[in-house]
Amino acid sequence: MGASSNDRWIRYYDAISGRPPRDTLLRALSAIEAEGGPGPNALALDLGAGEGRDTVELLRRGYRVIAIDVEPRAFERLRARPDLTRPEALETLVGRFEDIELPEADLINASFSLPFCRAERFAAFWPRLIAALKPGALFAGHLLGKRDDWAHDPDVTALDTEAVNARLAGLLVEYLWEEETDSATATGTPKHWHLFHIVAQKT
Ligand SMILES: C[S@@+](CC[C@H](N)C(=O)[O-])C[C@H]1O[C@@H](n2cnc3c(N)ncnc32)[C@H](O)[C@@H]1O
Repeated sequence: MGASSNDRWIRYYDAISGRPPRDTLLRALSAIEAEGGPGPNALALDLGAGEGRDTVELLRRGYRVIAIDVEPRAFERLRARPDLTRPEALETLVGRFEDIELPEADLINASFSLPFCRAERFAAFWPRLIAALKPGALFAGHLLGKRDDWAHDPDVTALDTEAVNARLAGLLVEYLWEEETDSATATGTPKHWHLFHIVAQKT
């Protein structure tokens, strides 16, 4: 996606300003807290962190966070957030997540970001994401389905149910919701959504 798509993200950040953390992340955090975690010094990665609605929650819950986003203006917004706590525990990396070597983490969050990766790059990236989960660590995030309006964009990865299940094989799936709905994008464009909301644990 080119420069115009970057402006698209700026419009997106404006539209979602002030929204709470994603449900998938909150579910993962609840599961971890139910098990007594996170441990001291736990590391979370936030892939495609955007203006930081999930990153600020991870910091608030005591994680060290590496936030990755291809759009540098995302981090100008994240660093300026009034609800940003523990900034010393935040590292921001500008780049495409599929180009970055991921450190081993206790939690990997990727809210509405993994689809924005070409299919051939995603195929190689997903095993690296799973490899970066420590044993017992959780993944929280979203994948795009084949019937989504964006599924035919060559810069996007869209998967059918079988392919999603194949990606999750070997993980303990704690939550999987396949959502299909006609609504709108955050910036108000009508859209058919086909999404997979996922929380899964590496055993
Ligand atoms: C729909 S927004 C989601 C932002 C945030 N995670 C949220 O839930 O609101 C997608 C974000 O992913 C970023 N992004 C898209 N493709 C990316 C890639 N390949 N690597 C890193 N960031 C990417 C965009 O810049 C944007 O901030």
